[in-house]
Amino acid sequence: MKLLAITTGLISIAFALTNAADVTYAVIAFPGSSDSVAVNVAGQDFPLQKSPMCGNLFTGVAPYGAEYRYAIIGSNGQKVENTTRHLAESATTTGNEFFGRSKTVYDIPSLPRAFNPIYPALENAMSRDNEISTIIVNADMNALDTILKAPTEDHEFAQVYNMSYISHDAIYNFEGAGIKNSGQSSKDMAKQSLKIKFNKFNKLSKDRLFGRRSFKLRAEANEPTMAREKLMMDSLAAAGAATLSSNWVRLFVNNQPFGLFLMSDDSFTAFTDNFLNGGSAMNSTGLTIKGNAMDPTNEANMVYKGPNAASYNSNDVYILEDKGRDPTVSKKSYMGPVIDFMDRLNKTVIGSDAQTPGTITDLIDSAEHTMIHLVMSFLSGSWDGIWYQASNYYLTQNRDTKKWYIITYDFDETFGNGVEDDKLMTTPYQNYSRPDSQRPLVDTFIKSPYYDPKFQDILKTIIKRFFNVRVIKPRLEAWTEMLKEDVAWDRSLPFRSPGDKEKFTVKDLDNMFTTVDSRIGILEWISNRTTSVCQQLNFNDTDDLPALPTYEKQVPNPTA
Ligand SMILES: *[C@@H]1O[C@H](CO)[C@@H](O)[C@H](O)[C@H]1NC(C)=O
Ligand SMILES: *[C@@H]1O[C@H](CO)[C@@H](O)[C@H](O)[C@H]1NC(C)=O
Ligand SMILES: *[C@@H]1O[C@H](CO)[C@@H](O)[C@H](O)[C@H]1NC(C)=O
Ligand SMILES: *[C@@H]1O[C@H](CO)[C@@H](O)[C@H](O)[C@H]1NC(C)=O
Ligand SMILES: *[C@@H]1O[C@H](CO)[C@@H](O)[C@H](O)[C@H]1NC(C)=O
Ligand SMILES: *[C@@H]1O[C@H](CO)[C@@H](O)[C@H](O)[C@H]1NC(C)=O
Ligand SMILES: *[C@@H]1O[C@H](CO)[C@@H](O)[C@H](O)[C@H]1NC(C)=O
Repeated sequence: MKLLAITTGLISIAFALTNAADVTYAVIAFPGSSDSVAVNVAGQDFPLQKSPMCGNLFTGVAPYGAEYRYAIIGSNGQKVENTTRHLAESATTTGNEFFGRSKTVYDIPSLPRAFNPIYPALENAMSRDNEISTIIVNADMNALDTILKAPTEDHEFAQVYNMSYISHDAIYNFEGAGIKNSGQSSKDMAKQSLKIKFNKFNKLSKDRLFGRRSFKLRAEANEPTMAREKLMMDSLAAAGAATLSSNWVRLFVNNQPFGLFLMSDDSFTAFTDNFLNGGSAMNSTGLTIKGNAMDPTNEANMVYKGPNAASYNSNDVYILEDKGRDPTVSKKSYMGPVIDFMDRLNKTVIGSDAQTPGTITDLIDSAEHTMIHLVMSFLSGSWDGIWYQASNYYLTQNRDTKKWYIITYDFDETFGNGVEDDKLMTTPYQNYSRPDSQRPLVDTFIKSPYYDPKFQDILKTIIKRFFNVRVIKPRLEAWTEMLKEDVAWDRSLPFRSPGDKEKFTVKDLDNMFTTVDSRIGILEWISNRTTSVCQQLNFNDTDDLPALPTYEKQVPNPTA
């Protein structure tokens, strides 16, 4: 069949003949101990062998098949995949696939850039958006079970003897990592979020994956689409901001299915170098605190309350996340510079331009960068975010310039998820702050005659470029197609922890688009939010802006 397409002479035919018997097939599968794995091409089974890279990856060479399926063959017959896979005519390898999933790599429409990156980010497969990778962990199951049975208690890491991260084009193996649950309120859920830290039980190695020394596996236990957080991170990146990255993975531990997770950034020493300096060590990276809110009187609103650290409930509200490369930072003293930040923010002159001494650019690195984070927090209705609840942001000091970077994170509660007041979807940004709150950082921009027009310009640009139904709808449609089999699988798995059992089904993926069980749909949120901003500011979402200048990736200056 393949030969019929060849019309360019003998050499091509000879090449095609060689090619025709030369496809490497590879599939991740969990066969029984006496089963074997095969690929079925043109009605014939060709056995696959266990890969030396991973005991659950089966590979082998078999003839080219425009159509093929994998099969698990046991003594009681065989289990053949339900859907036919297709191979491009020129393909010599399938890449690593997953048994029972109909497709491996999807066409996901890209997000157009609103602004070029303000800081050079470490760009790699950590932010991939067109496939679901697989993580296979062999761990101390007793220790992990102990954690999962009592998730709200403090636990040490359980040992990961070895693990593999397998995407369609790569396999990475690690030994001596640690695994435990992660998060705060997410520990109350019956599907726990997890974190994996490399080198935990193998102190001599310097393992990293995509430049990360640890990562989180976010369960998205209260989020029926599992896509909100990813959409926000990708949107921040497309808007030019420094952001955490993520990609979807299915997780297996000791051959047991744990479910679908969003693998995303975790903190480790100077983790912000990955967002701010292309992954190169930046000697000037100082401390990072994490802003958190417990309730309206204990929120990380950056309001100056005098020089005494005891006034700030720092253990719960301004939490030390990372010391960076600053040897002077300690648990006892870190609030000093943070209080200095709030004092200076308090004295910032609202209304003057960036060149005037005493303005916000003396204090934070890039007014534009901070405004992008605020605009996205507002547009997505991130009600537990930096603006509305004064929570879920990192504040990182640059030791050389003494300026601070602001990076927001934690986006499961966005695009209508968990929102108490639907009015947040239509409130103009001038009134978006939580009632009776103080938001000095936000006010610095939106109450300034100098910055407010710039803020509006960022808002309009993001809406015209990508935050609109025209751009987001096809992306959500493609993601729904890609996620639906794994979401159905995830929803069929038993819960492993006590706590809230969210009984979502694959049908709840409708929440990508519309309201389900009074939870506003992602696309519905974007549509209504965009419509009201466009009315309030009298513009439309047509992308009639000039093309962005070509982005020259800045080469970071590697230091210690
Ligand atoms: C094929 O579909 C049936 C019915 O939905 C299901 O029970 C079976 O597990 C599927 N087989 C594979 C290999 O996924
Ligand atoms: C991974 O660890 C398991 C359990 O200790 C062991 O059986 C297996 O051989 C290890 N695999 C590799 C590739 O080291
Ligand atoms: C500014 O500082 C004064 C005291 O110095 C305090 O009363 C006020 O609440 C502070 N405001 C903000 C927004 O930090
Ligand atoms: C904000 O709310 C106040 C009080 O409800 C109202 O008077 C004002 O017009 C609102 N501002 C905008 C821009 O909608
Ligand atoms: C979104 O806007 C549409 C059209 O105006 C409206 O019918 C729908 O109720 C709005 N959604 C919500 C959650 O308010
Ligand atoms: C959108 O606004 C521009 C002006 O910025 C105008 O030229 C254009 O006609 C408008 N498009 C629509 C569809 O209203
Ligand atoms: C990094 O900072 C440390 C401590 O401030 C300093 O001693 C060292 O010289 C710096 N290294 C480089 C390469 O700038």
